[in-house]
Amino acid sequence: MEKKRKIVLVFGTRPEAIKMCPLVKELKNREKFRIIVCVTGQHREMLEQVLCSFCVKPDYDLKIMEQGQTLFDITEKVLKGMKEIYAREKPDMVLVHGDTSTAFASALAAFYMNIPVGHVEAGLRTYDIHAPYPEEFNRQAIGSIAALHFAPTEAAAEHLIQEGKNKEHIFITGNTAIDALHTTVSKDFSDPVLDEIDRWTGDGRLILLTAHRRENLGQPLYDIFGGIRQVLLEHTDLRLVYPVHYNPQVRKAADEVFAGMDRVRLIDPMEVVTFHNLMERSFLILTDSGGIQEEAPALGKPVLVLRDTTERPEGVAAGTLRLAGTKKENIYKEFKLLVENHEIYDMMSRAANPYGDGTASRQIADILEREAYE
Ligand code: UD1
Ligand code: UDP
Repeated sequence: MEKKRKIVLVFGTRPEAIKMCPLVKELKNREKFRIIVCVTGQHREMLEQVLCSFCVKPDYDLKIMEQGQTLFDITEKVLKGMKEIYAREKPDMVLVHGDTSTAFASALAAFYMNIPVGHVEAGLRTYDIHAPYPEEFNRQAIGSIAALHFAPTEAAAEHLIQEGKNKEHIFITGNTAIDALHTTVSKDFSDPVLDEIDRWTGDGRLILLTAHRRENLGQPLYDIFGGIRQVLLEHTDLRLVYPVHYNPQVRKAADEVFAGMDRVRLIDPMEVVTFHNLMERSFLILTDSGGIQEEAPALGKPVLVLRDTTERPEGVAAGTLRLAGTKKENIYKEFKLLVENHEIYDMMSRAANPYGDGTASRQIADILEREAYE
């Protein structure tokens, strides 16, 4: 009998989990693999929520999260923790996702132990090492280490080719975010949380906000919230729901700027199936999230990206995303424009999905079955 290929999948944060769970499920259904799921626990509650929603039970959990953790804390603990697990499991390949410090440090540990790495969601670039920070560095570094690159789009693959990576090891698969979205969003989804938000919104327009990026912590976050607040005060039909990231610095800024506004709801991070369906029901999304920039075009939901630059230009080209920057007056101007100008809003609301047809996990599994891993 053919020996099974042992693959360790590593992830640690909410977005990695949402995009890796569909792949875990696909790989576990294939005879050719022995699959080990390892979570670093870079996130705690926000990771648990996703594992629970997708019914994935990890084989290992490094449980590294601390309040206010630094990049040193995460990198050091993941590097050493993964070393032990790789030494015990001796995998044929390690799969990491995207650009988090979990992904970077677990790829680095695999590299130090001469274990081939497959990079899921490879090739996204801003080529500005400070934005997103430290993610742009993480993604480029993983790209240097990876033996196989699973690029979501042609543009991402082109970056890797331009950087001199072997074309034969680059595969355009679409993004597994779309695989996940296909299992979560449904027109007749109903749950008590969303029903209550529907009642609260009434005839108003629902604005969904998320913000958490490290480079926006501090003054930029206050500026962003300040611009949003001003538009909310001028347009009384707007209702804003903000599932606030557990980062204490984000919570403090949100509590301070939106204090006393009864048309604003600050809530805890939402379970992913509910959140995806809330996106589907929103009028407009304001976010600095990477994943939401991929999901919103597929749902035809206009997004103001609360960043100066994006490694997801496909959504901008498709017309769904507009970069609003982080300056208070820009945010105010862009948000107001979309609330008042129906023509621009309508143009942005056409569903366009540059990120694949929801078969990324299947394609990655097929490639992993047939390719050599050197
Ligand atoms: C990390 C990723 C970022 C990704 C984001 C997704 C890095 C460097 N950053 O940033 O790329 O976009 O996750 O959300 O890898 N916390 C909790 N409970 C949780 C999660 C977080 O309390 O379940 C708090 C902790 O105080 C933690 C802080 O949030 O110290 C920050 O978490 P961290 O993973 O360091 O950074 P993120 O901003 O979440
Ligand atoms: N998301 C969620 N609950 C929330 C907010 C976001 O499930 O309350 C999902 C969202 O749909 C997307 C992912 O989390 O799939 C994005 O995660 P995040 O913004 O934390 O990270 P990023 O994508 O910026 O790396």
